[in-house]
Amino acid sequence: MLDTESQTKGPSKRMLALKDFEAAAKRHLPRSIFGYVSGGVEDNQSLRENRSAFAEHHLLPRVLVDVSQRSQAVTLFGRKYDTPFGIAPMGLSALSAYRGDIVLASAARAANVPMILSGSSLIPLEDVIAAAPGTWFQAYLPGDAKRIDALLDRVDAAGFETLVLTVDIPVYGNRENNIRNGFSTPLRPGLRLAWDGLTHPRWLLGTFLRTLMQHGMPHFENSFAERGAPVLSANVLRDFSNRDHLNWRHFDQIRSRWKGTLIIKGVLSVADALTARERGADGVIVSNHGGRQLDGVLSPLRVLPEIVEALGRFPVMMDSGIRRGTDIVKALSLGARFVFVGRPFAYAAAVGGQGGVLHGIRLLREEVDRDMALLGVRSCEELSRDLLRPTASPSDGEYSASVLPAAMKPPTPADSMRPRGLANSATA
Ligand code: FNR
Repeated sequence: MLDTESQTKGPSKRMLALKDFEAAAKRHLPRSIFGYVSGGVEDNQSLRENRSAFAEHHLLPRVLVDVSQRSQAVTLFGRKYDTPFGIAPMGLSALSAYRGDIVLASAARAANVPMILSGSSLIPLEDVIAAAPGTWFQAYLPGDAKRIDALLDRVDAAGFETLVLTVDIPVYGNRENNIRNGFSTPLRPGLRLAWDGLTHPRWLLGTFLRTLMQHGMPHFENSFAERGAPVLSANVLRDFSNRDHLNWRHFDQIRSRWKGTLIIKGVLSVADALTARERGADGVIVSNHGGRQLDGVLSPLRVLPEIVEALGRFPVMMDSGIRRGTDIVKALSLGARFVFVGRPFAYAAAVGGQGGVLHGIRLLREEVDRDMALLGVRSCEELSRDLLRPTASPSDGEYSASVLPAAMKPPTPADSMRPRGLANSATA
């Protein structure tokens, strides 16, 4: 169990909600790095959509239920976790926080929640799993049989049991914000970057220079079996070759080689989710990459119900836009088995290290606990669509109302004449 009281020191005391970490990280991090973490793609339509989709569901509690024995623990792939949420994979975490990947993985392990190590991370995966056994690994694989096998063998030899294959990045999204903020991978040295670092001395000394002095120049360690490009270089290019070749035949190859749990992340269509199950995936993460890939793509929350309906008891997880306990109970009520949270934990690691991440986990865990009690439910299994009523959010206007599936449209006057039970099943 998480001993959180002892962690609530210093800046964490002022962090009352996940969003507070974002404001603190904005001050702490160089503009280029904060922009990389916080940014979406092109016009940020999907980034906004990820939040507004949650606002379109309202909660409908039950009362006079004895909720004194409630628990949010869930069993996933044979393991019991203390919360229904985990930490999503995020590249370059060791650039925004000192030893970021280890900080995130160790906090997650201490809190008994899963953390997914990104394939675009800067600390060798062997070091991360040694510090935090039970961490999952996320791979960005090229469509190249030899390189796939070599990386899988390395991940397996290191002791990872769960592999997450991210499939929504055949090419990199058009992240104009990175160019506007002077961010690239590798970072290009220059006056602008130097000024960005110098004007954020706590980050410069406590994260960047400390990393350089104690561990040398960070490299992309886990994109392939062999070490990749350095994170700072005037001329080296990162190798993204053949990512756009990756297809279901490669997935079959991965499935036959990877004996552990295999999850596909970045699915949004029912057809792809069904194919994933047919071809032997153990679960899917419905995700739009936090609004960082194709702009205008819809929120995972909107397609979650139809994917869950088509896949039955198959583990369907989701991420993108989750910031509150109420978001988590909404996603679980719509059928998600588990959810992942990205950016807020990157901010928590940047401003508060491992204690900050533990504090963030505790805030979210307490919110879920309180929300469950206020909803009248004792376990995650009791969260169902009966506890939700869809309404179009005023800020989204006609757009959201017109794209809602029939079952999720706001009730019409005729609906309100129906008996409550029937209204419930119309939203199911
Ligand atoms: C990501 N994401 C991501 N996904 C992935 O599969 N591999 C990766 O390396 C990364 N890298 C990455 C870096 C940063 C800075 C962010 C913010 C996100 C996407 C991530 O796993 C997840 O899908 C989203 O972050 C979820 O959305 P929220 O919670 O950030 O809104």
